[in-house]
Amino acid sequence: MTKNLDVILGAQWGDEGKGRVVDAASEEADVVARFGGGANAGHTIWVGGKKYVTHLIPSGIIRDKICMLGNGMVIDPRTLLQEIQEFASQGLVVWPKNLLLSSGAHIITPAHILLDKIASQGKLGTTGRGIGPAYEAKARRVGLRVMLMKNPPAFREAVRKHISDCNEFFVRMHGVDALDADAIAQEYFECAEHLLPYIKDVSRLLYGYLRSGFKVLAEGAQGALIDVDHGTYPFVTSSTTTIGGVFSGLGIGAEHLGRVIGVVKAFQTRVGNGPMPTELFGEQAARLRGVKGDPGSEYGATTGRDRRCGWLDLAALQYAIRVNGISELALTKLDVLSSLKNIKICTAYELNGSSCSVISDGADDWGIFRPLYEDVVGWDTDVSQARSLRDLPGAARFYVGRIEQLVGVRVRSVSVGPEREQMFSIY
Ligand code: IMP
Repeated sequence: MTKNLDVILGAQWGDEGKGRVVDAASEEADVVARFGGGANAGHTIWVGGKKYVTHLIPSGIIRDKICMLGNGMVIDPRTLLQEIQEFASQGLVVWPKNLLLSSGAHIITPAHILLDKIASQGKLGTTGRGIGPAYEAKARRVGLRVMLMKNPPAFREAVRKHISDCNEFFVRMHGVDALDADAIAQEYFECAEHLLPYIKDVSRLLYGYLRSGFKVLAEGAQGALIDVDHGTYPFVTSSTTTIGGVFSGLGIGAEHLGRVIGVVKAFQTRVGNGPMPTELFGEQAARLRGVKGDPGSEYGATTGRDRRCGWLDLAALQYAIRVNGISELALTKLDVLSSLKNIKICTAYELNGSSCSVISDGADDWGIFRPLYEDVVGWDTDVSQARSLRDLPGAARFYVGRIEQLVGVRVRSVSVGPEREQMFSIY
C-alpha cells in the first residue's frame, strides 16, 4: 500500500510553528486536510515579508493546494467566510475547487461562544471561540452539522430553534440577556447560501485521492499536551489533537500512513491555564517571549494573549512521541535561544523524591512534577542566516543532537526564523 499520508502534529501545548512546517511540506503535497479543532488555532506563515494567518483553512492554501476541512472540526461559518475574504484581499483565491468543507463537521453558533465565555473561559483560559460547547453539543447528539446548510431555509429554522433553546438556559441559569434568535438565524442562512458549493463528502474524496496515489498531508492543530484524552486534563481543548484524531476527524483508515512529524519548539510555551513544569517567569520568560509585534514573538495568533514560556521539556516531548507514534521531529525557533549563555533542557521530572522520566497515569496533575535539568552551553552567534546544519555554531548543533539523543527520534528539520528559507532539512 502506498504510504502517501503524512501527518504533522504539535508535540507540545500548541503554537509550535506547525503552520510553517505544513507550508514547507505542502510543496510536495496534493491535498492538505485539517482534522480537528476550529478557529481556536492560529497558524502564522511568512512569505517574502508578507504575513498570512489562518485559523480554519489549512496552511496548504498558500501554495494553492486542495484544502479540506474534516468532519472532526467545529466551524463558525462567519469566521470561515471572513477568512476566505481575507485571503482574497491578499491575492489568494479560495473557492470550491481548492477548499472543501466536510458535511459532517459541526457548526459553532453565538450560543456556543456565549456558553464558552460564561462557563469555562475564566477557569480554563479557553480561546473563547465556542470550541468546548460545540464539541459538547456533538457528544450530546444535539449539534448542528454542516450538512444542514445544504438546505438553507431548514438550516435557518434549526439555528433559530437552537438559539431559542439556549436562551432559556442563559436567562434562567446565568441571568444574561437572550440572544436575538431571528437575527442569528438569518445571518447563518446567508452564510449557508455562500458556503453551499464548498460542502462535500471529504471522507469519500480523500479515500479516492489516497487510493489513486495522491500525496495527502494531515495538518494538526493545537498540541498533544492539550489533547482531550492525553493532555493535562482538564486544562485541555475539547478535541483529539493526537494521531487518532486524523482518522476519525477525516473519515479515513490508517493503511496509507507514512511519516508522523512532531513539531517542537526549541523551548516550551503555553497559553491559558494549567500546569507547565518548566515555566519561567520575569526577565527569563520575557526574553523568550520577545517583543510584541515582532515576527515570531510569543503572543497568541488567535487571541493576542502573552504565551507562558519555559525551558524545553523533553519528558513531555517523550510522552508526546509515545502517544502519537512520532517518527521524526521538526524543530522550530532555534534562533530564539541565540545569545543565551546557558540553556537548560528538562530531561526528566522528580516526583516524591525520585526521578521519573516516564509519564503514566500519574500525569493527572502535572503540577506536582518538578523538572530535572541538564545545562547546555549556549551560543553567541546569530543563527538566522543558517541554511544547513553546517552553518550552525557547534553549541547549537550540540543542542539539536542532544534532543535527538535524549528522545531517540531524529530531528529532520530546523527553523531559524519566520521566513520560508529559514527552515532547512538536516538529513
Ligand atoms: P479552547 O480550545 O478554546 O477550548 O481552549 C482550551 C485550552 O486550549 C486553552 O488553554 C487554550 O489556550 C488552549 N488552546 C486552544 N487552541 C490552542 C492553540 O491553537 N494553541 C495553543 N493553545 C490553544
